Amino acid sequence: MAKILGGLTTSHIPLIGKAIAQDLRNEPYWQPFFKGFPAAHEWLRKVKPDVAVVVYNDHGLNFFLDKMPTFAIGAAAEYRNADEGWGIPTLPPFRGEPDLSWHIIESVVAEEFDPVTCQEMLVDHGFTLPMKLFWPGDEPWPVRVVPVSVNTVQHPLPTPARCLKFGQAIGRAIASYPEDLRVVVIGTGGLSHQLDGTRAGFINKEFDLMCMDKIVAEPQELARYSTLDLVRLAGAQGVELVNWLVARGALTGSVGKVHSNYHIPISNTATGLLVLENRG
Ligand code: DHB
Ligand code: FE
Repeated sequence: MAKILGGLTTSHIPLIGKAIAQDLRNEPYWQPFFKGFPAAHEWLRKVKPDVAVVVYNDHGLNFFLDKMPTFAIGAAAEYRNADEGWGIPTLPPFRGEPDLSWHIIESVVAEEFDPVTCQEMLVDHGFTLPMKLFWPGDEPWPVRVVPVSVNTVQHPLPTPARCLKFGQAIGRAIASYPEDLRVVVIGTGGLSHQLDGTRAGFINKEFDLMCMDKIVAEPQELARYSTLDLVRLAGAQGVELVNWLVARGALTGSVGKVHSNYHIPISNTATGLLVLENRG
């Protein structure tokens, strides 16, 4: 059977791509952000995943405002990187795991979730940068991927409660997959940030740290917020936190924290990193 090893969550700010490309990781601006990652690399070397299920939000690349699925799941053999003009480097394609994708799709539909199924799917910085942060070595990528996209862009957004339940359904789906695959679940985005409007630059450290604490063992506490609460407390783009809730939901057993890091700001965003282990 497939085994869920744990979860990783990180912010996905485009500027990170430039820092990696220009090798700025040890510069004073970047060091407090990148210093969080060696512990994640060590854990990944220990648990040796075959597949990463990556929960992120598309920012207007594969889906635009005219057609915006609440939830979408990739079922392609390959996913190519494209982005919407940030000037960040394009990364090589990612290998899919279509049989696992279809198993997850069939399982969550049987549980009354109705994702869009994508046999072709471009992935943007919300997907690619976390992959590069967690696997910074030379390509080819050492894991195959299943992208899961959540609408955090065009209201109405799925509620935090719905996102946690969707993640739990994904977790049950993975755990019922008959092949012996080792799986990690990744949630990207956040933490607090607002990129536009009169509150541009808004960051809420107290709320972020509370979320990073509660999500480990009491994610249902975060599922109590409404979408509007999240906009108020985390900023209009800080709602990307729901991607973390989907990923956390997929860790169906008891969960322990291996490592965390929090740093303000990178670009306009509060950055968070968590490594969570599924302890069965
Ligand atoms: C920034 C953060 C994001 O999550 C994103 O998708 C784009 C930009 C930023 O802080 O610059
Ligand atoms: Fe984003």
